[in-house]
Amino acid sequence: MQIPNKLKFLSKISSDGNFGDVLLCENTYLLRKEAVKIIPIKGKTEKDIAKELNDNLFESSVLEYLRKSQYIVDIYDAEFIKPGFSIRMEFLENGSVQDILNKTIFLPTKQIVKISECVLHALEHAHTKQILHLDIKPGNILIKNENIYKLSDFGLANIKNKDGSSIFKKIYTAHYPPEKLSGQKKEADEQSDIYMLGVTLYRLLNGNSYFSEQWDDFKNKKILKEQIIFGKFPDRKKYLPHVHSKLKRIINKCLNIDLDKRYKNVREVRNDFGKLKIKYDWAIKEISQTSQHWECYNEDGLFLELITEKKSDLWEISLKKYTKKSKSNVSKYCHKNLKQSDFYKKLALIFNEYF
Ligand SMILES: Nc1ncnc2c1ncn2[C@@H]1O[C@H](COP(=O)(O)OP(=O)(O)O)[C@@H](O)[C@H]1O
Ligand SMILES: [Mg+2]
Repeated sequence: MQIPNKLKFLSKISSDGNFGDVLLCENTYLLRKEAVKIIPIKGKTEKDIAKELNDNLFESSVLEYLRKSQYIVDIYDAEFIKPGFSIRMEFLENGSVQDILNKTIFLPTKQIVKISECVLHALEHAHTKQILHLDIKPGNILIKNENIYKLSDFGLANIKNKDGSSIFKKIYTAHYPPEKLSGQKKEADEQSDIYMLGVTLYRLLNGNSYFSEQWDDFKNKKILKEQIIFGKFPDRKKYLPHVHSKLKRIINKCLNIDLDKRYKNVREVRNDFGKLKIKYDWAIKEISQTSQHWECYNEDGLFLELITEKKSDLWEISLKKYTKKSKSNVSKYCHKNLKQSDFYKKLALIFNEYF
């Protein structure tokens, strides 16, 4: 692989993407690290690429065009290098949201709200500039720090026509908008990005295994397509118990198969996120068929500890409250001998009170 002289190859960041490798390089002139995405060009010459760049919307030109947003990955340069076209960009050492998801069960709600706000800013900027992203997923959201997440990978992005629509170049199946699958709409528009964001947030909130278990239930592609078209996949009624109804409502509105009921634009989604006030952050420490261990944090640190255990088909719940000096049982939420359905109702009460 030939890379520009000033760059020293350090390691591969990713090689399982659809469109080539992403390399970590050291810029030996500027003494900084850079992420270099190599897009294969399949026998095309520099001249062919120059023509394509001129005629089409290329990932590099979209990044440059959208550069003013702090929520979109920053591009440094783009170069023709045999045997590919390289896009040099800022290196985000914390990787992507998909990397966090791979390491945990699901993401805490406050972090998801932060990610959503950043992606919504990025999308609003792109949509205002007539660009649709069309590939929103956890692997395309990079982490700058705990407050800033950046949208990247505009490889499938497209420019809106005068009527606001655009063609899909390719779509990741799990994120297929139902109206596209059913043939109701051939073209993509802002609502396609909103749907894909909804699927992404659903995955972050409930965890990847929750998502892929449903996915595996429909191994037959034809059935899966039907499930997407009828709004059964992902299952809008199946959320982890700590997900608050207000948040579910936002995600489900992004996923609505009825286009009149889905958010029309990103600003509407942002407004609803702006109204969410989340005081408590729940994280799961351990989960099995017979027990769960949750922790809830407020601005002072650990605030609640919730432990559930199944003993011969009946559940026990114990909720402990921590203050700076002591810890005590929250007796109204400590139960024994609960049937499964009552157990879920009691859990929902706890999560609704501490939101
Ligand atoms: N600028 C970057 N900094 C750090 N990691 C990156 C960067 N760009 C991409 N990556 C990593 O490489 C992966 C693939 O990059 P992406 O641009 O999404 O390519 P693909 O088109 O192959 O999906 C990302 O999910 C992320 O883990
Ligand atoms: Mg990608």
